[in-house]
Amino acid sequence: MQTNQPNEKEQGLIQMMQRMLNLIIVLVISIVSLPLVIYNVDSIKGWFKADSTKVTTPAVSKSAKEEAKKMATVETYWQPVALDLVADAAEKELVYYGRDLIAHTAKYLGPNGSVIQISNGQNCQNCHLQAGTLAFGNNYGAVASTYPKFRVRSGTTENIYKRVNDCFERSLNGKALDTSSKEMQAIVAYINHIGSNVKKGEKAAGSGLKDLAFLDRAADPLKGKTVYETKCQSCHQANGEGVLNPDKVEFSFPPLWGKHSFNDGAGLYRIINFAKYVKYNMPLGVTHESPQLTDEEAWDVSAYVLSQSRPHIAVPKDWPDITKKPIDHPFGPYADAFSAKQHKYGPFKPILDQVKK
Ligand code: HEC
Ligand code: HEC
Repeated sequence: MQTNQPNEKEQGLIQMMQRMLNLIIVLVISIVSLPLVIYNVDSIKGWFKADSTKVTTPAVSKSAKEEAKKMATVETYWQPVALDLVADAAEKELVYYGRDLIAHTAKYLGPNGSVIQISNGQNCQNCHLQAGTLAFGNNYGAVASTYPKFRVRSGTTENIYKRVNDCFERSLNGKALDTSSKEMQAIVAYINHIGSNVKKGEKAAGSGLKDLAFLDRAADPLKGKTVYETKCQSCHQANGEGVLNPDKVEFSFPPLWGKHSFNDGAGLYRIINFAKYVKYNMPLGVTHESPQLTDEEAWDVSAYVLSQSRPHIAVPKDWPDITKKPIDHPFGPYADAFSAKQHKYGPFKPILDQVKK
């Protein structure tokens, strides 16, 4: 039968020619692209890199990751032990009284206090927000777990009673509370109870104040005045003296300077503490996760407030070892040659560099 199909011999020839053609194509491509590959290894790597980043990190998954990270961190911050977990009725009453003394100190111990008049009218809570329980609100998360401890300010080992009285004498510009009084027992019972979930010797995450980066310049009281007028004055008043409640017992807005404010031996008189507190807690209502002031505003407004007049306390026994003085301690003598002014307002990096050496 006659067909148009090629015979077996012809088929074999065609197949062979096709194979050879394929081989030639592959060879030509290889020869042409070899130098390209050799000379462009880096850029080729680059393509792959660029590609893989594009694929694995679209904008959505990145922010989702950040969100997840944020949530994980929030969960790990210290939470106070609930007060109603105290089993013993008398102890429970004491702990609740302790909280009230922290939140409404002036009601009991201020100039018009009902128990004894030993302090300036401020409440502990003005500086230890939410009765000392707020993350980075100068809370008591590391007190029960770390006291008694050696403190360089006094050069001695201090128990909680001594530390509480430090704040009475300096932050509340008042007198020490008798250690055996019901009030002191209550304050300490409260602080110990809320911090009883922190392992001895450890500092809970979110305790105390949150770190703030130094500026490269000195903090500027003049720039700070403008910040104060626009962001603080409405509550703390132009004269810095705050606003008393109509009953004249407690402040609704505490004084920041003047005769009812903390004295110059207080922890808050050091600008690093003050700026950290303000950056992450003021104006009232901000949180450390959503601060409102820029770092510069926080430092400058702190310089402005701390350049105003306030009560003085003589503390000749502070810092027996001057080499251990904090870099922002505003009074000499110092172990270095930097001026008192630089120790008060910065810049702090040069001082820190020298301390490190
Ligand atoms: C004007 C602000 C202010 C007031 C008011 C104040 N404190 Fe303080 N307190 C501070 C600052 C700031 C520190 C941290 C000082 C430092 O680290 O140098 C502190 C530290 C403490 C500590 C130690 C915290 C730690 O982790 O080591 C205790 C305890 C304490 N205060 C208790 C009290 C009590 C109780 C009252 C009320 C009687 C009070 N404070 C009132 C500002 C204040
Ligand atoms: C909306 C009112 C309001 C504004 C605005 C405000 N504060 Fe306060 N501030 C308060 C209140 C109320 C407290 C006391 C918190 C408490 O007792 O719970 C306080 C406490 C403080 C304290 C610690 C207590 C003390 O007596 O020393 C400082 C420091 C402070 N504020 C600084 C500032 C600065 C600086 C600004 C401006 C950046 C500012 N505040 C803006 C209401 C305000």
